Amino acid sequence: MRIAVCPGSFDPVTNGHLDIITRASKTFDKVIVVVSRNSSKNYMFTIEERMEMLKVSCAGLDNVEVDCFTGLLIDYMTLKNAHVIIKGLRAVSDFEYEMQMALMNRKLNQDVETVFMMTNSKYSYLSSSIVKEVAKNGGCIKGLVPDLVGEELLKRFNIGG
Ligand code: PNS
Repeated sequence: MRIAVCPGSFDPVTNGHLDIITRASKTFDKVIVVVSRNSSKNYMFTIEERMEMLKVSCAGLDNVEVDCFTGLLIDYMTLKNAHVIIKGLRAVSDFEYEMQMALMNRKLNQDVETVFMMTNSKYSYLSSSIVKEVAKNGGCIKGLVPDLVGEELLKRFNIGG
């Protein structure tokens, strides 16, 4: 079985993430979306909230599972006997850091390949951080995140009642 792992912070999941996850689900037998627990970032949503929003958003994709990991991604790959990491590339600005991670992961385990998918151009400017910034300041985020995520963001910022 060809298993692909889509790792990320997903704080929160955006339609750009979902586009990559959906396309990966058509290319691989099984896709595991894994939420990182251990970044030094300050997350807006807890790991449980981020996973729940992903689960609801991916509910229509039968071969997609949601999980979380702590520590090195490469160790999670071994645990799941998975050999492909899927990453989305939005712009040249993503490339340098993504290449560094891909090369480090290959140094750590040569049996794991990182596969990059080019983001759909309509989401190329999108990131979780920019969506939070717009939502926080009362801007319209419709079409940028799943409806449930939009509602959670508005609640979080006390917007719309
Ligand atoms: O959505 P993000 O924040 O860009 O996701 C980054 C993530 C979680 C994929 C990356 O930070 C990661 O893989 N962290 C796990 C720690 C690890 O394995 N580091 C070494 C990779 S070079």
